[in-house]
Amino acid sequence: MADFKPRIVAFLCNWCSYAGADLAGTTRVKHRADVRIVRVPCSGRVDVSFVMKAFERGADGVIVGGCHPGNCHYVTGNYTTRRRMFVLRELLGFMGIEPERLQVTWCSASEGDKWAEVVEDTCNTIDRLGPLTKVKDLTENLRSEAKEIKPSGS
Ligand code: FES
Repeated sequence: MADFKPRIVAFLCNWCSYAGADLAGTTRVKHRADVRIVRVPCSGRVDVSFVMKAFERGADGVIVGGCHPGNCHYVTGNYTTRRRMFVLRELLGFMGIEPERLQVTWCSASEGDKWAEVVEDTCNTIDRLGPLTKVKDLTENLRSEAKEIKPSGS
């Protein structure tokens, strides 16, 4: 896997994590460029389907970033995220997908260095795990099985 370049999607809340990532960029903190950022209003907006869709469309890893607990601009959005992503990580393991492919982080607007560390750590983890093909296989199998199921009465 010498030429494997991980594809990582990061869903970052507008108010903290996105600003932290922006700070890392504007202050030229060195970090890898394998992460594609999607800005969301709050980490609580990141539904399970967002993460699964990212995996299905070819992401090898996903980062969900929000404000530190207690600092969410919508008060409890990141608490929802914490619970939701904890369950999703368990579910990934149940499906045979390494839970480490999903990282959750709290990063403030002043933590550009922290964002760079998260990117490096996640990229190193995904380098070690290699490409993810399982989700695509799983969803294709489910789709073909769903086509075979005929509605009752027909
Ligand atoms: Fe940042 Fe809710 S606004 S996590």
